[in-house]
Amino acid sequence: MKEAGYEVAVFPGDGTGPEVVREGLRVLAALAEGGPAPWRTTEYPGGGQYYLLTGREWEPEAEAAAHRADAILLGAVGWPGATLPNGDIAGRALVLGLRERLDLFANVRPCRLYRGVTHRISGRYREVWSPEQVDLVIVRENTEGLYTPARGRLKRGGETEVVIDTRVITRKGAERVIRFAFELARQRPRGAPEDGVKRVTCIDKANVLEGCRFFREVFEEVGKEYPEVEREYAHVDAFTQWLVRNPEHYNVAVSTNLMGDIVTDLASVLQGGMGFAAGGNIGASHAMFEPVHGSAPKYAGKNQVNPFATFFAVEQMLRWLGSTHQDLRLVHQADRLERALAEVLAHGGSGTYDQGGTATTSETGDRVAEAVRRVAR
Ligand code: IPM
Ligand code: MN
Repeated sequence: MKEAGYEVAVFPGDGTGPEVVREGLRVLAALAEGGPAPWRTTEYPGGGQYYLLTGREWEPEAEAAAHRADAILLGAVGWPGATLPNGDIAGRALVLGLRERLDLFANVRPCRLYRGVTHRISGRYREVWSPEQVDLVIVRENTEGLYTPARGRLKRGGETEVVIDTRVITRKGAERVIRFAFELARQRPRGAPEDGVKRVTCIDKANVLEGCRFFREVFEEVGKEYPEVEREYAHVDAFTQWLVRNPEHYNVAVSTNLMGDIVTDLASVLQGGMGFAAGGNIGASHAMFEPVHGSAPKYAGKNQVNPFATFFAVEQMLRWLGSTHQDLRLVHQADRLERALAEVLAHGGSGTYDQGGTATTSETGDRVAEAVRRVAR
């Protein structure tokens, strides 16, 4: 427990990032009302738009703050036309850069459908999945795999002839993320919705890729240390259909970097869309929390996007801070926020446009801040 409070470095980023982060900070402030806040938030500019203005993705001071902070809250980065000279997106330093440099090896993306949330399939609002069916967490390896910066282009006479992206799977990288998934399965109060079984599913393509065969071997080794958790394997292609058909079967799933990136976007449909998907990038001593959605340039400045993903990111951040520092104050605040979020969603009323409603980003923030005040400390 940190008596002096926790330092949270906040990077609103590009596009709609600042709009959802603003609501996230208001909700944090509502949680802290009536007592000294056990956290301090400091905002820093950075990202693609900042790069277009200044020629820098962020300032050295912002980077230092990210390294120093107890936790990081990120909005979104990426802006049309904001590209670094080497072709990478400007703002990369804030996402992929921090994942690499702070060694945030586990990307933890809970996927839960809350009562009152509608989901959209082929443009229509339907109730395909019920809240009882969807409660899983996908853990994505976050520092290597196909994202390893070992890539390049061979040009001859100015013409590109060969391009290579190298997929790297290391024992250390596989082992720690797989262990994270098993620990999570062990700690979660409930198993899979279908049968209550604590289960970790290894998502891979071991029928083709050597790296995936190795990932499975390590999964088997590590998993044996957790006899109370069931081990299961799924080829990534088949997994996509099973996930959609039978989400209640899944509890915790673990995968390599790019496969995890793809299946978590698919999974977000089960929980009501990207407007609800949050993720924590977690390392041994640092962590960064973010809505999974991007900067949505089309909606920037319109006060229309759904801030719930950011609220869930804030909840995840408080829970992580609380458990890492064994500080029950923060765990209670996370529980309180979750109750407030569930209450607002269950109550229904007009959601944001992605829910077929007309509520604005800031009205949604108002409703959640009010609910936080109602829910007892
Ligand atoms: C995500 C995003 C990032 C990724 C992008 C913005 C680099 O899609 O967090 O899932 O590919 O990891
Ligand atoms: Mn993604």
